[in-house]
Amino acid sequence: MSADRRPLISGNWKMNHNHLEAIQLVQKLAYAIDRDDYAAVDVSVHPPFTDLRSVQTVLQADQVPIFLGAQTTQEAERGAFTGEVSASMLAKLDVSYVIVGHSERRELFAESDADVNAKARAVLGAGMTPIVCVGETLDERAGGRAEARVTQQLTGSLSGLKADAIADLVIAYEPVWAIGTGETAMPADAQQMCSHIRSCIGATFGAEAAAAVRIQYGGSVKPGNTPELMAQPDIDGALVGGASLDADDFARIVKYRLYQV
Ligand code: 13P
Repeated sequence: MSADRRPLISGNWKMNHNHLEAIQLVQKLAYAIDRDDYAAVDVSVHPPFTDLRSVQTVLQADQVPIFLGAQTTQEAERGAFTGEVSASMLAKLDVSYVIVGHSERRELFAESDADVNAKARAVLGAGMTPIVCVGETLDERAGGRAEARVTQQLTGSLSGLKADAIADLVIAYEPVWAIGTGETAMPADAQQMCSHIRSCIGATFGAEAAAAVRIQYGGSVKPGNTPELMAQPDIDGALVGGASLDADDFARIVKYRLYQV
């Protein structure tokens, strides 16, 4: 992590917790995370759509400085898109960060890099920050194609965006083989890929954007492995799945700096 980039720890709840369970979880987080933590780290939670209004209400009422996040968005502004939710609807709920191109969306819902690009633009257009996910499969890594794959995803997903928009956004490097498996990338391997991502951004959007863009690591992040991951110079945060559903675990991840060796 660089001194100039504020760390961002994000909890991707995926399709877990109804709105009542969501309220309980944020109330626990409000107790477990304190002022010193928020002074050092940005924190976001990404509940399912049906929970957003409830979570927003709790965060507002108790003045909890956790940023509200969403897990995806529809790129169109409005219209005949049954089942979809637009970026402006999310912005109206005080959503700040929207994950786009998560590997589960890419794999299970056939989202292409062009789709991810359109969603990132919609999020930016509504005044929010996209968290753009990239990451290789086990086959791609075994075949020595991990960097090429991630480069391709970055090129497609960020195509046509302006350098100042890139500087403000977040990239999440989530190797597909590390998601929900308990397998974490070795911190040195994660660092190597995050450094590669920063170089790609630099080559296309310039040194300033590369220095400013925040890069998260995701894939079996737990309280125990966070300090070492966060000690890597190009890792600026974590996108946490399973461990973000447990208030104590997520709070310990947010407090990683207290455990840093
Ligand atoms: P896990 O932390 O459960 O591996 O999930 C990672 C992830 O996909 C976060 O977006």
